Amino acid sequence: MLQRLEDLRARALEELNKVSNARELEVWRVRYLGKKSDLTQLLRSLATLNLEERRQVGAQANEIKRALESSLEEKNRLLQEAILTYRREARELDVTLPGRPFPIGRLHPTTQILKEICHVFQNMGFEVIEGPDVEWDYYNFEALNIPQHHPARDMFATLWIDAASGEEARLLRTHTSPMQIRLMEKERPPIRVIVPGRVYRYEATDATHESMFYQVEGLAVDKGITLADLKGALLDFCRCVFGEDRKVRFRCDYFPFVEPGVEVAISCLACNGTGCRLCGYSGWIEILGAGMVHPDVLARVDINPKVYSGFAFGMGVERIPMLRYGIEDIRLFYSNDLRFLRQF
Ligand code: PHE
Repeated sequence: MLQRLEDLRARALEELNKVSNARELEVWRVRYLGKKSDLTQLLRSLATLNLEERRQVGAQANEIKRALESSLEEKNRLLQEAILTYRREARELDVTLPGRPFPIGRLHPTTQILKEICHVFQNMGFEVIEGPDVEWDYYNFEALNIPQHHPARDMFATLWIDAASGEEARLLRTHTSPMQIRLMEKERPPIRVIVPGRVYRYEATDATHESMFYQVEGLAVDKGITLADLKGALLDFCRCVFGEDRKVRFRCDYFPFVEPGVEVAISCLACNGTGCRLCGYSGWIEILGAGMVHPDVLARVDINPKVYSGFAFGMGVERIPMLRYGIEDIRLFYSNDLRFLRQF
């Protein structure tokens, strides 16, 4: 057995000497070190030997395996070197040229801020979920207290999808709020989720409007949730994202699916509240809409509004990096200009 192993080693090394290119080297590797090689087979059959033999033969075989492996590596190195030498001498390769830079990828600024927002809310115990971009009229409007012909439909310039007659109307969701309904249809309180996602508006684009942008929706439903919880959570969020010394303002606003509804603004990042071009000389910048989930909305998904209450909010995402970095045109986000994207 030991003799056979030595023969094997000699044969392998002799053949390795004759190898002259990468393809032959691979053939050699498979023959002598591959799964079906004599050496591998032999190592596998060790179990049939008695203890003493096994020890001797095993040690020998392993030693040969290591030796062949390092010869393989060495041969590989020599071959590579030979190729380089050849190319250098044939003047194919100019080693004095500077190297080619590796382009390094990065996360899109929207992805970066989404991660940051999700992180802040996850720390407060919110779970991240996602929903469909193509939505039924029911979820986008009806179930959120916006029936057909309700004037609040004008708040959302909607992109409709052609429907066959008799089919319920489909659209590209105009906000992430439909996920409030989809989630509450399935889950019972306590609920604490945020929903990042794309939304669509049928609008002429300009520096502050895009037909596709991102929102993050938030929803918390449980016994005894009050407006104070909403204020606490959003105040915390604003301070995490915009800085500890941000002032946060809550004012009445109207959304059909919340009651009361509020609009949340932060003290201007540029002038700190004294008034400047960025904040339209008001000192405040509106960043999100929110409110207490309307009792009719809860009842619609069979959550008893006499027992449970909740708050919801929705924010535009691109606004945040725009404010933070002084980006003046939202269209830059999705026009794929690397000169813009590389700055983040
Ligand atoms: N969905 C609203 C919008 O897009 C924002 C909102 C969400 C308001 C949740 C209140 C509660 O304008």
